[in-house]
Amino acid sequence: MDKAEDASQGFLPPFEHFATQAIHVGQDPEQWSSMAVVPPISLSTTFKQLAPGQHCGFEYSRSGNPTRNCLEKAVAALDGAKYCLAYSSGLAATLNIAHLLKVGDAVVCVDDVYGGTNRYFRKIASQMGLKFTFVDCSKMECLEAAITPETKLVWLETPTNPTLKVIDIQGCADIVHKHKDIILVVDNTFMSAYFQRPLSLGADICMYSATKYMNGHSDVVMGLVSVNCDDLYERLKFLQNALGAVPSPFDCFLCNRGLKTLQIRMKQHFHNALAVAQYLESNLRVEKVIYPGLPSHPQHELMKRQSSGCPGMVTFYIKGNLEHAEIFLKNLKLFVLAESLGGYESLAEHPAIMTHASVPEEEREVLGINDTLIRLSVGLENIQDILEDLEQALKAAHPPKAGEHG
Ligand SMILES: Cc1ncc(COP(=O)(O)O)c(C=O)c1O
Repeated sequence: MDKAEDASQGFLPPFEHFATQAIHVGQDPEQWSSMAVVPPISLSTTFKQLAPGQHCGFEYSRSGNPTRNCLEKAVAALDGAKYCLAYSSGLAATLNIAHLLKVGDAVVCVDDVYGGTNRYFRKIASQMGLKFTFVDCSKMECLEAAITPETKLVWLETPTNPTLKVIDIQGCADIVHKHKDIILVVDNTFMSAYFQRPLSLGADICMYSATKYMNGHSDVVMGLVSVNCDDLYERLKFLQNALGAVPSPFDCFLCNRGLKTLQIRMKQHFHNALAVAQYLESNLRVEKVIYPGLPSHPQHELMKRQSSGCPGMVTFYIKGNLEHAEIFLKNLKLFVLAESLGGYESLAEHPAIMTHASVPEEEREVLGINDTLIRLSVGLENIQDILEDLEQALKAAHPPKAGEHG
């Protein structure tokens, strides 16, 4: 048994038929007059009507597009959902969800949410009359206390970024659904549909920045939203067209293609990330490693209960100070120093200076985002090469003393 299979012991079993659905659902060749096996990129912005108002399923490409349709059907299947809608970015998906609300409505949001979501909620949506409370949703009592009669939406993200705190989706859903008419959203970007199905754990909306694992090739910016409820779907479908933040047919084609290898990519991300986490945890130049797949992670048991594995995100504190973190990052050769995550290539970044620079310093300190924190998106390269790169960069940051061997 290889390490990843060994590590997946105790996690939920993989979702049945996942790879088959990723490859076949929504891809039926019979839907095209050409019988194309691979869905074509349908660039036409408009579609012929047989008589005024009598169309064959498509009218105008913002309201519906054949290539987008293939992608949306496949993602719905992978999320165990009835419906999926695609957007021009993850933040566009968030914006569409926020438009389900009206002036005076309140939102409870996980405190350690993605920086762009935080910025949109605090700086834009709050100016449009929505109210936001940010709480530590890993503590059920904090979530419960934050809900008021005005609360209409609860926003979770798990594991959180970059400190990989795991939130109990089912536990939060039980609290949220004690109240009528509160929508529970889970940002499932870090997990992808392969490892976690928020809808089956009680969430009403599962959303993604498909820019990350769902597309998986760092060449598309896109958002996805899956739902089961007919009414919610109708409202979101109306907004998708009315707000207009839709993805291009070419991006839909690419993301649909990316899904075909989601299963094998995620298994390999897990395999490589676990090996990295274990290596770093045993390294004297490292202060602390955070990876939900390690037994040392405080919510490892919860992670096993609600997901079928862990993605490629590993966070660690290097020993020393900012200078050590910078030397480490500058010396990486295989890992690229860049923001984003979830692609086939390994990336490294410094959250305090890069992705989370907009979070005020006091808040960063509370969340544990300090000068020595480093976030890795472990890619699909050969694990020996990944480990060698980390080793040489750690040695550059903390050179072995004379007579020491490493
Ligand atoms: C967890 C999470 N949610 C949402 C987003 C926003 O997605 P996008 O960049 O596709 O707009 C990101 C982007 O990094 C993210 O990491």
